[in-house]
Amino acid sequence: MKPTVFPVPSGPAEFVPSVLSADFACLERSLAPVRKLAGWVQVDVMDGHFVPNLSFGPGIVSSVARAGGLAVDVHLMVERPALFIEAFAAAGAGLITVHAEAENAAACVKKVKAMGLKAGLALRPKTPLGRVLPLLKVLDLVLIMTVEPGFGGQAFIPAMLSKVEAARELISRSGRKIWLQVDGGINAGTAALAAGAGADSLVIGSALFSAPDPAAFLKGLRKKIS
Ligand code: DX5
Repeated sequence: MKPTVFPVPSGPAEFVPSVLSADFACLERSLAPVRKLAGWVQVDVMDGHFVPNLSFGPGIVSSVARAGGLAVDVHLMVERPALFIEAFAAAGAGLITVHAEAENAAACVKKVKAMGLKAGLALRPKTPLGRVLPLLKVLDLVLIMTVEPGFGGQAFIPAMLSKVEAARELISRSGRKIWLQVDGGINAGTAALAAGAGADSLVIGSALFSAPDPAAFLKGLRKKIS
């Protein structure tokens, strides 16, 4: 089946639902209510080595794009991203983020760009921000993890706020259009903190999909950060 591909919007992407916490039995029911309120959707890919969890293969990307009617951002939490980039691109990813700690990360970022997709670089909490410097001229997105990657539903690490502020400063000085994304523990109490520190793309999973009315919840969060 031809993959469903939505282009990544150029504007702000305040909130990015992470399907890791959605109802896999019915992605359409999970994603449809937030379609008009989200920038795009994130698929968290885990290989059981880079992080102690296993999640999705390329097959889900097109289904998520169709179910959400939104571009798909693939967050590769895998040791060897070079093995997966082409398959996720072919499945319909609009943006692929690799981890700075993964094998051949810089070459993978350049390969994603060469394939015409948006490219992101993610940093674990302990990884210094300086790791993005060599790629600042090519990146479309920097992802500051605000939890240890691997699982949804973890608590936000407040110490990451200074790293987000520093990343905002770095991006502003670069003069380039680069999204500053945070991922992990985003909820009613932390969204405004993250946005206030300079994040303009907030990945949100468990707090969103566990809300009784996700659309109302997301509308409330958007108001909080505007
Ligand atoms: C961790 C994942 C999670 C997820 C968001 O590897 O990347 O951070 O997407 O999960 P919540 O919003 O539940 O922290």
